[in-house]
Amino acid sequence: MSKCIAIDGPAASGKSSIARRIAGKLNIAYVNTGSLYRAVALAAIRAGRDLAALDRGFLDSLKLEYTQDDSGAWDLKLNGEFPGAALRTPDVAAGSSLVARQSEVRDYLLDVQRSFAGERWIVMEGRDIGTVIFPDAEFKFFITATPEERARRRLAQEGETPDGATLAEVAREIAARDKQDSERKVAPLKPADDAVVLDTTGFTLDQAVETVYGQVAGVLKKGER
Ligand code: CDP
Ligand code: CDP
Repeated sequence: MSKCIAIDGPAASGKSSIARRIAGKLNIAYVNTGSLYRAVALAAIRAGRDLAALDRGFLDSLKLEYTQDDSGAWDLKLNGEFPGAALRTPDVAAGSSLVARQSEVRDYLLDVQRSFAGERWIVMEGRDIGTVIFPDAEFKFFITATPEERARRRLAQEGETPDGATLAEVAREIAARDKQDSERKVAPLKPADDAVVLDTTGFTLDQAVETVYGQVAGVLKKGER
């Protein structure tokens, strides 16, 4: 079994917030795998590449590291720098889903993601962690909420949507990305057979965190971190 708490689910369901908080409470590492796909999209846009046809040579030229920033928060470095807000633009969000359909990109990031695992526990969050990256993860959660609720959550997040965006526009963007993520041939978005599915519609973030924490804390406290 991998010492991994896998948290999957659709856009704006609360995966990153839950994963970050669980990692903080347990003092273990946190990896947001969506930021890897976003970083590939950002690098491809910056290099003027066709996002729908990336080759392994380009991917191997990227340097992706997951590390703690000055404040101790876990974050992604692309080619030696924290890209920060550049990863959260609408172009990069749409581009991430496009690059994520390609098996070249998924194969490349599979190795990157597995290299994060080891002796110590990690929380890893994305779309296919419990199904493909760590099918033997000790804990698997699939976090969801209604599309309307997820659109409301995303619109309320500062810097995540263009100024003046409407709820309907945000809902459309999320629906298009979820459709693309669920219908792709390689590693589609879906709950693992043995995942705990948690519908957080009507939950506060604290309630969602406590639900997940309640299932993992006992086991992790008993065992070695
Ligand atoms: O990572 P993912 O796209 O799944 O979602 P997120 O960026 O972690 O969360 C989207 C927003 O929903 C954040 O502002 C959370 O604080 C908020 N939220 C939540 O995650 N869970 C709830 N039960 C309620 C609100
Ligand atoms: O924050 P949000 O949930 O909106 O998206 P994200 O987690 O940052 O992921 C961005 C995109 O990367 C997704 O729409 C997927 O297309 C892709 N992705 C993936 O295919 N597999 C993962 N494990 C994580 C992300």
